[in-house]
Amino acid sequence: MYKRNLAIAVLMLAVVVGLTLLVACSSNKPLIAEKSGAQLWGENCVRCHNAPSPPAFNDYQWETIAIHMRVRASLTDEEVQKIVEFLKMAN
Ligand code: HEC
Repeated sequence: MYKRNLAIAVLMLAVVVGLTLLVACSSNKPLIAEKSGAQLWGENCVRCHNAPSPPAFNDYQWETIAIHMRVRASLTDEEVQKIVEFLKMAN
């Protein structure tokens, strides 16, 4: 009788732990897609130099700089596009 109760308790614990892990790990969206341009700019453009502020360059200049810094910073097209949108909006 005691062994059976223990077995049931262990089984229930396993189910609870299993469900918790399932819920905790169910978000498989890439984190990067949720980041805003401002966030990506703040995280990436300070890695090698001070992040240039949006008004430092005009829209046309930002387009060119993005091509250059995309290679330097090894960012994806999507990430750079978000950063450029932010820089243009804020300049
Ligand atoms: C891996 C290092 C690195 C990262 C990350 C980086 N840069 Fe640069 N950046 C450089 C270097 C080095 C230069 C100096 C020019 C050169 O030799 O390429 C530079 C120059 C610049 C310049 C001067 C104009 C130009 O194009 O040369 C601007 C503006 C600039 N970076 C903006 C940015 C922005 C915006 C980001 C974020 C998307 C960024 N950088 C991320 C390394 C980096």
